[in-house]
Amino acid sequence: MRSKVVLAYSGGLDTSAAIKWLDEKYDMDVIAVTIDVGNEKDFTQVKDKALKAGAIKCEVIDAKNDFVDEYIFPALKANAYYEFEYPLATALSRPLMAKLMVDIARKEGASAIAHGCTGKGNDQVRFEVSTASLAPELKSIAPAREWGMTREETINYALKHNIPVPVTVETPYSIDANIWGRSIECGILEDPWNEPLEDAYEMTRSIEQAPENPEYIEIGFDKGLPVSFDGQNYDGLAMIQMLNQLAGKHGIGRIDMIENRLVGIKSREIYEAPAAITLLKAHLGLESLVLSKMQMNFKQKLSQEYADLVYNGLWFSAHRQDLAAYVESTQRFVTGTVRLKLHKGNCIVVGRKSPYSIYSHSLATYDKGDLFDQAAAPGFIHIWGLPLKTQSQLQKEEG
Ligand code: ARG
Repeated sequence: MRSKVVLAYSGGLDTSAAIKWLDEKYDMDVIAVTIDVGNEKDFTQVKDKALKAGAIKCEVIDAKNDFVDEYIFPALKANAYYEFEYPLATALSRPLMAKLMVDIARKEGASAIAHGCTGKGNDQVRFEVSTASLAPELKSIAPAREWGMTREETINYALKHNIPVPVTVETPYSIDANIWGRSIECGILEDPWNEPLEDAYEMTRSIEQAPENPEYIEIGFDKGLPVSFDGQNYDGLAMIQMLNQLAGKHGIGRIDMIENRLVGIKSREIYEAPAAITLLKAHLGLESLVLSKMQMNFKQKLSQEYADLVYNGLWFSAHRQDLAAYVESTQRFVTGTVRLKLHKGNCIVVGRKSPYSIYSHSLATYDKGDLFDQAAAPGFIHIWGLPLKTQSQLQKEEG
C-alpha cells in the first residue's frame, strides 16, 4: 500500500510541482492542506489546483481565529518583535500550520508531512522542529530543498505533467502574508541600498499618499487583550482586520530591515504590519501605566528572548511555555484605554488611562498638591551613592 504525506499547499508553482514530485520520487499519495491565516486567496481555486496537480484530497482550513487567539495575542502580550523591528507574522503562523498538518496526518494515517520551503530560510526549521516536537513519528520532506531544480526547470517539470503554471506576469518578489503582516523579499530588494518601489506594498499607503490630516483612535484592553475600538466591542480577528485597513491607509507599519536568519544569512526584509504595529504600540503604552519599573525592565528582556524563540522555530518548547506563563501573569492589570494619533506613517500614543494605573499625580506634579517629600532625597542619595564613594576611596588608581 502507498503511504500518505500531508503537504502544506499554497497554490504556487513549487507546492504544485511538489504534489507530482512526491508521487514520483517517494511513491506517496499527497493530501494537500491549505491553511487560511488571512492570506486572502481564492481558496476554491487553490483546492481545484491541488486536485488537478494530482492530490488525492485537498483540505482548506480557516485557522484565522485560532491564529489570533493562540499565536498572535500571546505574542502581543509579550511585545514580541524580532531584532527590535519584525512583529513575526510569518514566524507565528508556521507552528500553527504544523499543528494542523499533524492533526490531519494522524486522522489520515499519513507517515510524513511536506512543505515547499527551500534550504535557505527559517520556515523549513519552523515546520520541521514543530512537527518533530508534536509528532516525533512523522517524517518531514522538503521537495524544493531536495529536487535541485531551477525555477525554469520547475516550470518545465510542471508543464510536462500538466500542472497549471501561473500565466500572469509573476511578481518579482517572494511574498508571504497573513493578518499579522506581509513579508516581501527578493528582486531589487536584494541590494540593501535600493529603496523599495511602491509595487512592493499592498497593505499600506506611502507617506505621500497618506491622508493629510491625523486621525485619533482609542483602543480598549482587557487583561492585555485589545477588546474595543472607539468604545465599541470588537472580537480579535475583526479588530486586526479593521486596523490593517485603517492604519494601512495612514501608511503605518512599513518596515525595512536587514535581518539575521537562523541559518546564518543576513537578508533584506520588507514588511508591512499596520495592525501589528498599532496594537503593539498601544499595548506597551498601557503597560507603562500599570506595570512597575521592575516589571517593565524584566519584561523587556523577556520580550527579546520570547521573540528569538518564536523566530527560531521553538514555539512548542517548554521554555516558551514558561515565558508565556510569566507574561500572562503580568497582564492581570493591563486593562484600560489607549489613545493613538495616526498620521503619515506615524502611530503615536497620545493618551492612556486605566483603573489600575500606578501613576500618581501627587507624586509627579511640579504644581500645587505635591506630596513627594523632597527633604528625604539627600538621605536617599547618600545611601545610594555610599558603595561608590567607599570603593573609590579604598581603591585609588595608581598614577
Ligand atoms: N524573514 C521572515 C521570517 O523568517 C519572512 C519570511 C517569509 N517568506 C517570504 N517568502 N517572504 O519570518
